[in-house]
Amino acid sequence: MTMNNILFICLGNICRSPLAEGFLRHYAELNHCTDFFNIDSAGTGNWHSGKSPDRRAIRAAAEHGVDISALRARQISSVDFDRFQHIIALDRENLTDLQHLKANISTDCRLSLFSDLIDKPGFIDVLDPWYGSYADFQAVSQQLDRACKVLIENHLTDD
Ligand code: 4NP
Repeated sequence: MTMNNILFICLGNICRSPLAEGFLRHYAELNHCTDFFNIDSAGTGNWHSGKSPDRRAIRAAAEHGVDISALRARQISSVDFDRFQHIIALDRENLTDLQHLKANISTDCRLSLFSDLIDKPGFIDVLDPWYGSYADFQAVSQQLDRACKVLIENHLTDD
């Protein structure tokens, strides 16, 4: 199995991308394949750099048995385009921002929209729950948990 360096990107790196990071790592652990995954997350913005995930995201992840409380937010930087083969945007706005950053950098990394990796009609963006209710955090966690499980399982069957 080849090494997979995966970086999830959202806007603030305190809600969606730490949840995706936590769930993908969780399923890599369950499938005993952590040695083949380097998983991280970052934000396109820097407002929350150094901060813990939003407490609603921590709580929603915990409902799925995943602890993301130790993660700390950071902003994406140009070195990430060398360090990660796969940079995955949680929504189309994040993807557009990444495309602009990538345009100025020489890199072989692949940019993807999270939903393009999942065979689920009608699913385009992982919606930002920041201004929403706790139920929105639960919905995003449910979506990301299921999707990350599929991503790991597809990876294992493809290799
Ligand atoms: P995230 O959510 O991109 O999923 O981490 C957000 C968190 C904070 C802000 C926006 C989105 N904010 O504007 O501060």
